[in-house]
Amino acid sequence: MAEQAPTFVTVCRMDELPPGNRMVVEIGRKWIVIFNVNGEFHAIEDLCSHDEVALSEGTLIDDYTIECSAHGACFDIRTGAVKAPPANVPVRRFGTRVVDGEVQVTARPV
Ligand code: FES
Repeated sequence: MAEQAPTFVTVCRMDELPPGNRMVVEIGRKWIVIFNVNGEFHAIEDLCSHDEVALSEGTLIDDYTIECSAHGACFDIRTGAVKAPPANVPVRRFGTRVVDGEVQVTARPV
């Protein structure tokens, strides 16, 4: 059976999320943080898998690594993978795309 194409939701215009910034949106009762890294958009669930703290309050310690503000777990914002403990479960990642100058995010994790 063919996989269904993901549904995308528009979250903002590109100029509302310039490079080096992040934005938090709620889609389908999930909070999602979207990062603009040098013009690339990456989206993950805004919830640390260690103890349910908002990752949007963390620090990008390099272009693609968010460090949780609570206990320092690190995640790759491109994949959701854990890069440093104490978390040991990845966070959910969402697809992104730009259409006609609008940033869109998948309604479900990918
Ligand atoms: S809540 Fe994020 S590292 Fe503990």
